[in-house]
Amino acid sequence: MKKIQMVDLTGQYEDIREEVNKSIQQVMETAAFINGPEVHGFQKELENYLGVKHVIPCANGTDALQIAMMGLGLKPGDEVITADFTFAATVEVIALLGLTPVLVD
Ligand SMILES: Cc1ncc(COP(=O)(O)O)c(C=O)c1O
Repeated sequence: MKKIQMVDLTGQYEDIREEVNKSIQQVMETAAFINGPEVHGFQKELENYLGVKHVIPCANGTDALQIAMMGLGLKPGDEVITADFTFAATVEVIALLGLTPVLVD
């Protein structure tokens, strides 16, 4: 049976290998792991690319979901409707904030 990948991370990496490796090396050599020049450069480039005033770089998708949901002003117990076919972090963050996940197909 042919394996169908949901996301081709290797293929995506191959397309940007040189740029990614150079940036990682820069971070390692400067030890600027948090809020360093590479992160600020990424932030500015993404703001320009998206045409938005503010981008908040996050360590991972779970953090991004949590920050976005914290900004919505929801109260514990509020219902959040989300897709049932998603990564565990989607529901994990809703529950972490004391909200009630409602899965919809
Ligand atoms: C839809 C979705 N949401 C959230 C996440 C969580 O991202 P991370 O593993 O970077 O925290 C993933 C990860 O694959 C995802 O696919």
